[in-house]
Amino acid sequence: MKSVTYEGMTFDEYISKQEIEQIVQDVASRIAADYEDKHPILICVLHGAMFFLTDLMRALPIDCTVATVHLQSYDGTSSTGQVRENVPLRVDIRDRDVIVVEDIVDSGITMHYFKQILRARQPRTVKVVSLLSKPSELQYPDAKPDYCGREIPKKFVIGYGFDIHEYARNLPEIYALREN
Ligand code: IMP
Ligand code: MG
Repeated sequence: MKSVTYEGMTFDEYISKQEIEQIVQDVASRIAADYEDKHPILICVLHGAMFFLTDLMRALPIDCTVATVHLQSYDGTSSTGQVRENVPLRVDIRDRDVIVVEDIVDSGITMHYFKQILRARQPRTVKVVSLLSKPSELQYPDAKPDYCGREIPKKFVIGYGFDIHEYARNLPEIYALREN
């Protein structure tokens, strides 16, 4: 099994490149079926969702546009319980069908908070697609992703966009922190 070490912690391969590709294709097919002719705007939540966004967008055979926002709720391996909007969304989403592209929904505070910001800007619809989610940790029911690639148990993951103090995003696979 492949393993990597960051900050003295060991992480074991958890989701392979091939499995990630399969998950992305599957989510893309579901979205394409629901959004044909709707010209949705994909809002990428930086930085975690950047690889998922680019792979998902290339797998979508429909007309769509993209925008970015930088939200931050995690510090290291745990949630701070607060959401910071480091770089706000700068495009007009009025009457648009919005799809928020997120890396992972954990407690749900990030999506709960961001959906409120979006609704105030009067989009036609807002849905969330998340590569992963941790259902056992969800504290904000309205943050449950409309499209979820894979549900995982309570684990801290890195790679394919997921970071530990901003490092490890560039690993092609997803790794989970080894439990002692
Ligand atoms: P939530 O706001 O508690 O739902 O947490 C969501 C955000 O925390 C995501 O956008 C991620 O950036 C970050 N996050 C949650 N779990 C993990 C993880 O296991 N690895 C890396 N980042 C995570
Ligand atoms: Mg994030």
